Amino acid sequence: MSKQTPTRRLTAPAIQAMKGKTAIASLTAYTAPIASLVDRHCDFILVGDSLGMTIYGMTSTVGVTMDMMIAHGRAVVEHSERSLIVIDMPFGSCEESPEQAFRNAARIMAETGCGSVKLEGGAHMAETVAFLAARGIPVLAHIGLTPQSVNALGGYKVQGRGGDADRLSADARALSDAGAWGIVVEKSTESIARRITQETPAVTIGIGASPACDGQILVVDDILGMFPDFRPKFAKVYAELGTAADDAIAQYAADVRTRAFPAKEHTFADAVPAKRG
Ligand code: KIV
Repeated sequence: MSKQTPTRRLTAPAIQAMKGKTAIASLTAYTAPIASLVDRHCDFILVGDSLGMTIYGMTSTVGVTMDMMIAHGRAVVEHSERSLIVIDMPFGSCEESPEQAFRNAARIMAETGCGSVKLEGGAHMAETVAFLAARGIPVLAHIGLTPQSVNALGGYKVQGRGGDADRLSADARALSDAGAWGIVVEKSTESIARRITQETPAVTIGIGASPACDGQILVVDDILGMFPDFRPKFAKVYAELGTAADDAIAQYAADVRTRAFPAKEHTFADAVPAKRG
């Protein structure tokens, strides 16, 4: 049986019910060891298509495939037991029609055991969200900066400034009315985040969208300092694992070259030492 059993896991409705009561904590995870750590502390885990950049070194999320999302999604579901697992629908998997979105979302859910999918886009995706929600697929929407549209947006700019605010508010209302249980609001101003949070029954999950949201999400690699040369303004670094890993690898290579490694304790003797007692 899949580990995504409703009795043990937080569900999308349970997280939506936290609105106005408890702040929702979430991070991305893409691999088994990180999933089991995040699972101990967060309410939901997003297998984000940011894995295209963090795991595969791509320059954007546009080239991420369904197979990549399913492979990583399965690892995260299998190595977590408490959090709701949400899996991103990659670029090109849901924009064509509600039917295409249903086919791909159903495949993601059936092959991974996750409890929800996430898709990017505003009011134009509301019909798709309604189609999925009516067929038993909980949807987390994603507005503001939507990285899959980076080529159309002309870069990773702050959203919600000027006339943008009314459009973002209309997007959020359309997605919430269509049945989205939550809305990720990325790289947007505090005033628009507050407005959307007040206007919609969906929970707002901010990433670079101020404390006015119902909860927060960050890319796990960013909080762990895995990329010392890439520090988004909105991400707080809680550990410097990138630098620590670089130091450890440099020390290992130096030890090999000076023959300090392997030492006696890492080496097998001819005879197995007799056990005492
Ligand atoms: O792909 C991703 O990681 C995201 C963010 C919201 C964290 O969409």
